[in-house]
Amino acid sequence: MTDRYAVIGNPISHSKSPLIHGLFAEQTRQDMSYEAIEAPLDGFAATVQRLRTEGYKGCNVTVPFKFEAYAMCDQLSSRAREAKAVNTLIFRDGEILGTNTDGVGLLADIENNLGFKLMWKDALLLGAGGAAAGVLWPLFNAGAGVDIANRTVDKAQALADEFKGAGTVYARSYEELAGRKYDLVINATSSGLSDELPPLPDGLFKPGALAYDMVYGRETPFMAFARRQGAAVVADGLGMLVEQAAEAFCLWRDVRPDTRAVLDKLRK
Ligand code: ATR
Repeated sequence: MTDRYAVIGNPISHSKSPLIHGLFAEQTRQDMSYEAIEAPLDGFAATVQRLRTEGYKGCNVTVPFKFEAYAMCDQLSSRAREAKAVNTLIFRDGEILGTNTDGVGLLADIENNLGFKLMWKDALLLGAGGAAAGVLWPLFNAGAGVDIANRTVDKAQALADEFKGAGTVYARSYEELAGRKYDLVINATSSGLSDELPPLPDGLFKPGALAYDMVYGRETPFMAFARRQGAAVVADGLGMLVEQAAEAFCLWRDVRPDTRAVLDKLRK
């Protein structure tokens, strides 16, 4: 019988996840289906329960339900605990298992696809919402020193406080960034979706620096800024999307898809 999976979000119509998982399934010859489901804003838990009743094996969770997913799991991975958010659910033996593959996805894209090693690098993470929280621990664990800048500095400080004592994660206001330089700047704000640019100073990028926008499918004002400012490599979040999907696929199916082939196909 065909095993069923889905991604739940709101809105969801533009999601590339069904396409990506379809390509993975074809490539690895898995008998599975994967669809996009829009849950009402107050109906996430009910949608998950419906999928379980109907025999689905698992699902992905996207905006705005990642925290609700985290809150309803019977078991959480350490990655999910660190992110306080869940993007991948596995329905097994009557239980809901939750993990988060966003951080590993970002790391795989940066280190394997873009060939940029994070150990000892100075990274600047823009934003302190769910997207930023989901990648902060993986960046830290990969050995980068991380500054977090956010318009609302208190939110950046709350994230940085989780690392008290470790000494390599600091909260900054945008004004405080003047004169600082980074090997890697990651835009985890939603500014690109409204065609806005966070208030960044000139001279932010070190030679050889990577600028990474977690938004995909468009040239954001942040990406244009990074090009003007001489960042060596400017990337959007499509690679992260494919890599986080591959990690989820691997957990569900126990087989690792070739992400490079899928990424090449999507970029065409
Ligand atoms: P997400 O889950 O995508 O992270 P979120 O939790 O709503 O969404 O967080 C959005 C983030 O983008 C926040 O860090 C927000 O900054 P504030 O906390 O100061 O509001 C940031 N953001 C959104 N638009 C921005 C802009 N134009 N410039 C700078 N930061 C922006």
